Amino acid sequence: MIKNILITGGAGYIGSHVSEVLIKNKKKIFITDNLSTGYRRLINKKAKFFKVDILKSKKIREIIIKNKIDSVIHLAANLIIGEGEKYPKKYFKNNVLGTKNLLESCKNTGVKNLVFSSTAAVYKDGQYKVHENSVIKPKSVYGKTKIKAEKIIKKFCKRNKINYCILRYFNIAGSSPSGKIGLINKSDHLFKNFSREIIKKRPILKIYGGNYETKDGSCIRDFIHVSDIAEIHYKVLEKINNLNNSKILNCGYNKGISVLEVAKVFKKQTSKKVEILVSKRRKGDLVKIIATNNKLKKFIKWKPKFNNLNTIVKSCISWEKRQ
Ligand SMILES: NC(=O)c1ccc[n+]([C@@H]2O[C@H](COP(=O)([O-])OP(=O)(O)OC[C@H]3O[C@@H](n4cnc5c(N)ncnc54)[C@H](O)[C@@H]3O)[C@@H](O)[C@H]2O)c1
Repeated sequence: MIKNILITGGAGYIGSHVSEVLIKNKKKIFITDNLSTGYRRLINKKAKFFKVDILKSKKIREIIIKNKIDSVIHLAANLIIGEGEKYPKKYFKNNVLGTKNLLESCKNTGVKNLVFSSTAAVYKDGQYKVHENSVIKPKSVYGKTKIKAEKIIKKFCKRNKINYCILRYFNIAGSSPSGKIGLINKSDHLFKNFSREIIKKRPILKIYGGNYETKDGSCIRDFIHVSDIAEIHYKVLEKINNLNNSKILNCGYNKGISVLEVAKVFKKQTSKKVEILVSKRRKGDLVKIIATNNKLKKFIKWKPKFNNLNTIVKSCISWEKRQ
């Protein structure tokens, strides 16, 4: 049975939601985070927190051994696409070397399971509906660091008899119904930007590109609620542990929503006059990417609880109002 779980990056947006779900399910949570983009106030009070960088393998190893960690959820990473293009060395160090060091810390300990957060950014552009065996060809430095980390994990886990589950998240949005946690700061996040705008006096919802070859000219994404993502972590962890199995799984709703549709739902939440401003295309944006999720559904008998755009938008706005 899974008892003691170490979450790297547990003071971040997704990590705080994963902690919440695991604690609700009576797991003991230990968090290591260097607080580079995370926040103390997102750390669950029932979790034990260590302000440690994953690059410090000796310290991480001590934490693993001392607390009898049986499972690791590895979320710590740098993830801003533009920043990765500017500082590739920083991204390779943190995301690739960081993963390597973390794995070294797990060697010959009680760790039996590992869940890793990867991304849709590993897939080749232009494939639209991607399944786990679709062509891998990341455009960004960030995507490249994630696929490298995936490969290292697969090799290491096979050799050391650790079950792994690589989760390729699609576009994550929303905040927990508990109201205690949410996205604090991310400059290029669509839902975050719209939430900030919609509570202003004269909201302007800016979208990039209105002449793509899609139904309404804007980009299409597969948005998934962060609480559904968090629940997936709990379920896959139990499953790989029980079956002694390893998997790579896409995490999305298998549903394409356009950026313009999102803007319109935000607009509906207020009686104020809202401007939807279509500006020019942003370099590097994929036109359309959607997850096939049959593998995930089958593996954990998954039924999403928050797969409704209105629900996601409302949760973002109510979190933003509390800030
Ligand atoms: N948010 C998304 O839409 C999305 C999509 C796909 C994949 N992911 C992946 O999910 C994971 C979590 O992302 P998030 O959105 O919660 O981001 P986040 O920035 O909120 O969380 C990352 C956390 O990791 C910590 N961290 C970074 N480097 C560290 C290091 N060397 N040592 C210790 N802690 C470190 C940060 O302080 C932060 O708390 C990342 O691995 C990311 O690549 C996120």
